[in-house]
Amino acid sequence: MKTTNIRAIAASILAELESGKGSIDSHLAAIKNKNQYEDIVEGALLQEILYGCCRWFHMLESITNQLLSKPLKRKDSDLKCLLIVGIYQLRFLSTPEYAVLNETVCAAAILGKTWGKALVNAVLRNYLREHDAIEQSLMATSPGYQHSHPEWLLATIRSQWPQTSDQVVLANNSRPPLTLRVNLARSSRADMLAALQEVGIEATAGKLAASAIYLDTPTAVNDLPGFAHGKMSVQDEASQLVPGLLQPAPGMRVLDACAAPGGKTCHILESEPLLTSCTALDIDAGRLNRISENLNRLGLKAKLLVADATAVSQWWDGQTFDRILLDAPCSATGVIRRHPDIKLLRTRKNVDKLIQTQHALLHNLWQCLSPGGLLLYTSCSILREENEANIAHFLENSASAKYESIAADWGVECRYGRQLLPSSGNEPDGFYYALLRKM
Ligand SMILES: C[S@@+](CC[C@H](N)C(=O)[O-])C[C@H]1O[C@@H](n2cnc3c(N)ncnc32)[C@H](O)[C@@H]1O
Repeated sequence: MKTTNIRAIAASILAELESGKGSIDSHLAAIKNKNQYEDIVEGALLQEILYGCCRWFHMLESITNQLLSKPLKRKDSDLKCLLIVGIYQLRFLSTPEYAVLNETVCAAAILGKTWGKALVNAVLRNYLREHDAIEQSLMATSPGYQHSHPEWLLATIRSQWPQTSDQVVLANNSRPPLTLRVNLARSSRADMLAALQEVGIEATAGKLAASAIYLDTPTAVNDLPGFAHGKMSVQDEASQLVPGLLQPAPGMRVLDACAAPGGKTCHILESEPLLTSCTALDIDAGRLNRISENLNRLGLKAKLLVADATAVSQWWDGQTFDRILLDAPCSATGVIRRHPDIKLLRTRKNVDKLIQTQHALLHNLWQCLSPGGLLLYTSCSILREENEANIAHFLENSASAKYESIAADWGVECRYGRQLLPSSGNEPDGFYYALLRKM
């Protein structure tokens, strides 16, 4: 679609996401080169609308349904998404009402639905008149609407984490902090905090990882002192706990089996410069390129392989690894605040498929581990079936695997492994860790 109407672009992307296609990142990347919006301000508005509409999609959809006398047809899901875009702006942004109405009504025509202009106008005006009554009636009939989660996910969070489910839901709906990892091989955290303060960037030290810094206000990375020279990287604090758990040591051979975009590969190399080798493997060639960029910026070296880690015979030379990091592809339910499109994209069915991949990865990579070696299984999921249940299943079926508990003062100790649950503010993402030793 060639248009500069940000609302129309946002509505059509939202409709794609609702039908499970792409992600916010992939859609934004695709339209960026096509020059579909006029300037950086419009780009920022599009991003704000997309992230916000995904974060509050389920709530805004409930409100929209109250305002429609009959549901729109499936083929008009872009128009429903346009209403969601309009109501999002009226409810959450300070854009003047007349501008929201004008632009959103015009967007209906740009979507090829001139007939929808009157509908959009009427629905948005009704929202302005009746929003309090609508939300009160939703509170009375379906109070879950305010949490703005898909039903299956809300029910799973509540049943799996009954004590902390409110905290998790709140965190999922919050805006994420920008977290940095100081390259401790080049600089101390205290020095980097001082350097940030010198250029007027307010920041605080993380509580769990010695390298973590939280910025009070998100800042473009190129404005960060030393970023271009590899003194800092962007990485959530939960991920920064990985090298400490993996325990790489001089002379070891390390495999990062699902490595792209390489945040953890780089951190492992920063924390242990005397490895014999570090192999970073990923099935996705495009994402693997991003590892190269990160390695170059940080002045680090790793052996990069594009391969399916489960098809061991196609990429493995038979030399075992002393350490394997399996940062598994997962539902990403621990990082919803960073990727609110997960709420639209993830389904129970695709979680089941991911679990099959996680089993296959664990099972096949195990043969590549040296006797006495450690495999660290991690995921950015908070679903027990992707985490401790996988480890339990693996231990039942692998005589040579011994579970090692992680002694720490953070997170929740599970039957197997340790879970960080999402919290709002300057706190780590939801993340899971389990350590297995080969006998
Ligand atoms: C959670 S992400 C890894 C993030 C990365 N460890 C980091 O810290 O930057 C999971 C990765 O697994 C990769 N992947 C999925 N299935 C795979 C497979 N069968 N073999 C290798 N990589 C796979 C995906 O392409 C994705 O890049």
